[in-house]
Amino acid sequence: MVSAAGEHAYSHDQLKRGERLFYGLIPLGEGATGCASCHNIRELDTLNWYPSAYDIAVTSLEQSMEEFTAVLLSPSGQIMSRVHQHYDLSEDDLVLIKAYLEEVKKEGLTIRKPAITKKFLFILAILLILLAITDLVVTHKLRFKFVHTVLILACLFYIVDTTVREAIAVGRSPGYAPDQPIKFSHKIHAGQNKIDCLYCHNTAEHSKSAGIPSAGVCLNCHQLVVKEGTRSGSFEINKIIRAVKNNEPIIWNKVYNIPDHVFFSHTQHVKVGKLECTECHGVIEEMDIIQQFNDLSMGWCVNCHRDTEVQFIDNAFYKKYEKLHQELTEGKRDKVSVEDIGGIECMKCHY
Ligand code: HEC
Ligand code: HEC
Ligand code: HEC
Ligand code: HEC
Ligand code: HEC
Ligand code: HEC
Repeated sequence: MVSAAGEHAYSHDQLKRGERLFYGLIPLGEGATGCASCHNIRELDTLNWYPSAYDIAVTSLEQSMEEFTAVLLSPSGQIMSRVHQHYDLSEDDLVLIKAYLEEVKKEGLTIRKPAITKKFLFILAILLILLAITDLVVTHKLRFKFVHTVLILACLFYIVDTTVREAIAVGRSPGYAPDQPIKFSHKIHAGQNKIDCLYCHNTAEHSKSAGIPSAGVCLNCHQLVVKEGTRSGSFEINKIIRAVKNNEPIIWNKVYNIPDHVFFSHTQHVKVGKLECTECHGVIEEMDIIQQFNDLSMGWCVNCHRDTEVQFIDNAFYKKYEKLHQELTEGKRDKVSVEDIGGIECMKCHY
């Protein structure tokens, strides 16, 4: 099975057998489950704490055949020895499973199908307009002319409305929740284990950016204390250790992003404005995967500046607004909003 170049070359039938073993279509041992029931081969939109087929394909590529065999036939670690039980696999079949995983590494996970309904309706609207015009000018099948007009107007409205909405929504997506390189959960860390947001986002109070913690911060706990997670075993935590050992940064996908022409500062809002993280990010403590909580539009910023009262009392930052202070103590005004101190002037947010 080893080619001249030292690369393994497997026949189509051999790879097929590897795949069937992975799906558990060929018996793997008394009471043993197919690998694919835990190691998903398709992209998921829900959280699977077990590593995906692609994830284990990447690590098994670095493993020798002995190491790979041990993972399945003599597993170590609390979670691993629970999930990899009862396997009774021959040496040849183990080689073929590993070979199949190499294919998975090349192909990647099977991609989720995007919803086509919107596109379909859009095309349908265009077709209906064309049909109505054809009938009006050429075929004359419909007797009542107003039907054409109503149909054309309705479809036109739908097309224009959708186009405008899509154009406005470019770059804005409430609910956006990208996949992350490690299954890091805020629910487990900030929620269940009550780790303070500022422990990891320690620049939020005194700088523009809240910052994302480096792998070194994770290791404060994960080097010695927590080496295995209850849900994911040691697989995800090992990624942190590997990143540090190989001196590779963990590249997290950004969830919140505003355009470069807008100035936004955390310290201004957290320290001066005394806002809670929740007001802009939602209840992060309950999210396994972070989801964008609002649409990050200009309207979102400006509306809050109109509605929100600035925290004048005992706030040294506002000493300079003496006139407003005076009016407040004299009872001439009952509140001062962010708008009153210039919070909706274009230049405050745009360079
Ligand atoms: C202050 C300590 C602390 C820090 C810092 C920390 N963690 Fe954790 N982590 C924990 C605790 C406690 C658990 C819960 C273990 C359990 O019960 O499963 C955990 C669990 C995990 C799990 C496994 C979840 C599971 O149940 O399988 C992963 C993955 C993880 N952390 C990743 C990270 C990453 C990535 C970082 C850095 C960005 C990080 N952690 C920083 C304390 C910490
Ligand atoms: C019941 C769920 C489950 C099934 C079934 C399962 N696994 Fe796993 N597998 C896991 C979990 C959980 C881990 C991570 C455990 C850990 O790291 O502590 C894992 C880890 C692995 C790893 C990575 C080991 C490493 O150290 O990088 C490989 C490879 C693997 N599994 C292969 C398989 C194969 C092949 C099968 C089928 C013969 C299989 N698994 C069946 C849950 C499962
Ligand atoms: C143990 C470290 C840790 C703690 C504690 C923590 N975070 Fe995070 N946070 C991270 C990491 C790592 C990421 C990047 C991965 C991700 O998006 O899930 C992140 C991402 C975020 C993001 C998304 C950033 C972006 O645009 O991509 C927000 C918002 C956030 N955290 C808010 C909070 C809030 C609010 C709290 C407290 C309730 C908190 N975090 C507690 C480590 C932590
Ligand atoms: C007034 C609204 C608001 C508040 C309050 C707020 N954030 Fe943010 N946060 C944002 C916006 C807007 C972005 C996107 C910034 C960008 O793209 O430059 C962001 C981005 C982030 C990021 C990504 C990294 C970065 O700095 O760009 C993290 C992490 C984060 N916030 C954490 C927090 C934490 C923790 C708190 C509470 C201490 C908090 N935020 C309070 C609006 C807010
Ligand atoms: C949840 C309410 C809220 C949201 C949402 C919000 N802000 Fe603010 N913003 C405040 C408050 C409160 C202050 C007052 C703090 C201060 O006096 O500087 C403030 C102050 C500011 C200031 C300083 C204004 C001044 O006059 O000094 C800027 C700039 C700013 N915000 C930009 C933004 C941008 C950009 C966004 C949207 C990406 C945004 N804010 C979203 C509440 C909000
Ligand atoms: C409180 C902060 C804030 C203030 C004040 C503000 N803007 Fe914006 N503006 C934003 C944000 C955030 C965006 C990015 C919106 C997006 O990406 O959808 C934006 C985007 C824009 C855009 C780009 C078009 C778009 O929708 O992306 C223009 C043009 C613009 N602003 C003009 C203005 C003008 C003119 C003023 C003064 C009347 C103003 N802005 C005041 C925050 C602000």
